[in-house]
Amino acid sequence: MPRKILVTNALPYANGDIHLGHLVGYIQADIWVRFQRMRGHSVHYVCADDTHGTPVMLRAEKEGLTPEQLIDRVHGEHLRDFTAFGVAFDNYHSTHSAENRFYAEDIYAKLRAGGLIDTRSIEQYYDPVKEMFLPDRFIKGECPKCGAADQYGDNCEACGAAYAPTELKNPYSAVSGAKPVLKTSEHYFFRLSDERAVAFLREWTRGTNAAGERRLQAEAANKMKEWLGEEGENKLSDWDISRDAPYFGFEIPGAPGKYFYVWLDAPIGYLASFRNLADKRAAEGESIVVEDYTDAARAATAGTEMVHFIGKDILYFHALFWPAMLKFAGYATPSQLCVNGFLTVDGAKMSKSRGTFITAHSYIAQKLNPEWLRYYFAGKSNGTMEDVDLNLDDMIAKVNSDLVGKFVNIASRCAGFIAKRFDGRLASELNEELALQWGALDAKFQMAHAKITQAYEDRDYSRALREIMALADQANSFVNDEKPWELAKQPNNEARLHQVCSIAIGLFKALTGLLKPVLPKLAEQVEAFLNIAPMTWNDALEPLAGHTINAYQHLMTRIDRKQVDALLEANRESLAPAAAPTAKEAKDAKAASSQQRHAEKQQHAAQAAETASEHISIDDFTKVELRIARIVNAEHVDGADKLIRLQLDIGETDDAGAAKPRQVFAGIKSAYDPASLVGRLTVMVANLAPRKMKFGMSEGMVLAASDAEGQTAGLFLLSPDAGATPGMRVK
Ligand code: MSP
Ligand code: ZN
Repeated sequence: MPRKILVTNALPYANGDIHLGHLVGYIQADIWVRFQRMRGHSVHYVCADDTHGTPVMLRAEKEGLTPEQLIDRVHGEHLRDFTAFGVAFDNYHSTHSAENRFYAEDIYAKLRAGGLIDTRSIEQYYDPVKEMFLPDRFIKGECPKCGAADQYGDNCEACGAAYAPTELKNPYSAVSGAKPVLKTSEHYFFRLSDERAVAFLREWTRGTNAAGERRLQAEAANKMKEWLGEEGENKLSDWDISRDAPYFGFEIPGAPGKYFYVWLDAPIGYLASFRNLADKRAAEGESIVVEDYTDAARAATAGTEMVHFIGKDILYFHALFWPAMLKFAGYATPSQLCVNGFLTVDGAKMSKSRGTFITAHSYIAQKLNPEWLRYYFAGKSNGTMEDVDLNLDDMIAKVNSDLVGKFVNIASRCAGFIAKRFDGRLASELNEELALQWGALDAKFQMAHAKITQAYEDRDYSRALREIMALADQANSFVNDEKPWELAKQPNNEARLHQVCSIAIGLFKALTGLLKPVLPKLAEQVEAFLNIAPMTWNDALEPLAGHTINAYQHLMTRIDRKQVDALLEANRESLAPAAAPTAKEAKDAKAASSQQRHAEKQQHAAQAAETASEHISIDDFTKVELRIARIVNAEHVDGADKLIRLQLDIGETDDAGAAKPRQVFAGIKSAYDPASLVGRLTVMVANLAPRKMKFGMSEGMVLAASDAEGQTAGLFLLSPDAGATPGMRVK
């Protein structure tokens, strides 16, 4: 019986770029989905952007956009990045959608009817200037323990202390700079501490899914034990699910000015995306019965599964709140959580200053092959919550030796002979001795096939790839022993050459089938070259006797260290402050006491980090073309009391080859006498769109320093050090 599985990936926040850290979990899920489909199971694979919350709201404001405009743009960027890496969702939706509002309201109403929603007054910091309550991460001040300045409201990055925002000394709002005041307001709570919830979660943790597998990895189950405490104990606290206006999210029905907290409707987005998929498919005449996956009773009868792939930092939300919400609203609960560890690069946290905070887009823009990364990440994924290290030298070595040196090499050494000498036809028969050799090899492949199947099922892709590469070694030794390139030179060995190459191509086909979940694009190219239908899991090992193949096309190049260096260079931000983006890094080992608070803090940290850092990428910076200019002429402008007309030589010439300076009107008259400027060098923006002014065209801009108020302390034109010449690029 084919399984019916709804697979989801965590929904990325709509206020940041996809980076290689994200891709760990998305690639793991995509491989699993492709594998299950190859086996003939039915899989719906959905994701969406996580769009609500304060950070998105503030980010949009900063960019001069509405939240809707911001999330629209980011939706396109995220989908572009996932697609480039072969992460092929059936649907990529948004939590800011009608479907999501429907499910959020429905689940909330059912929880309320079940007596699981409470209201309570709480006191919180409020920004009197911005007129909003401040999430912990938007309050800063001096650490109550060590006194370090500019620490966030939840923990100190200098000494590691964790505290409540109200403990900060000299607190200020990170949004407006104002001193926050304490203000009470009514909040809505989901009563996670209710005995029913606690009892349910204990049982859910221990359970298995429809396929008889544990719902949680061993490490996740241990975390749950820690959070739930001993039998009879109740360590859970109620969960604050409301936020006050102004907030970008869904208003709570019957509670004007109160909004669902972003984490309430975020996982509901899985269901929303699925519903949206079903509606799209219905329009194409295909029917997906959503309730067979979402309704508890129907899911049990239909035997459907819901599998969530998430990172370890968001386990708390997915293992406690989410199943409990679903359960008490009558919805089907998750069958399995597949939790991935965090990405480090060369053994350290991703860092903007080292260039290891690598965006998905920059990887593509630098023209690196996405399947290199898929292969490398797969080799590092063993189905546990352990962190994954991207060691760039190791990645180069692995891809070059395994994929190019072992795998592709089999085809590249044999395919040419089939095309040139045998019209592309593979041998239909083998002589007795080669038949024996083939039989022995085939037996090894068949034996390994079962192990590889189990390894993929367990998401232990590293084990799967080790098995597959051991088979590739076998295939290569066969080719090395038979030496087709020598057979080809010998007069009476046509038949043997034909058979040897045919065996090798058959083995290559099998290896391709086994690698297909990891390398879908490469597999597609191979299927075209071999002239075969898309391979399924079971026919990967079928022989190709007598089959006609197409001419061999180059399949994959080696990675060059230079490409990787260029990638790091493109991501390096020399001015990046150390703090922000890594705050999300799991600190979950610490602060064992209040796990729930802690989990939420990590989320705030992550979201705030994205907003707080006003960084631009190196790509943004290089858009500005700065050049050394010589001021060849400077004069007053009649009728303008601030402007000086400059003629700037940046090495440009006209058609006849004569110097052709640019005209720029600069507002520096208060500080400079034109005569004193002639002959000196400065820096200009050379690619600013020309602007027509009252006095003529201005074709650029010169750079000058001034104080915050404008020009009270004077104006200071920039000059390069000696040696710079007109036209040099400044970067
Ligand atoms: N919006 C939430 C998830 C809501 S799910 C209902 C969120 N978004 S995120 O953009 O911060 O992260 C998206 C996914 O990427 C999460 O599974 C997260 O754990 C994962 N990762 C983010 N950074 C990561 C690394 N550096 N390494 C590995 N996974 C990482 O959390
Ligand atoms: Zn401190």
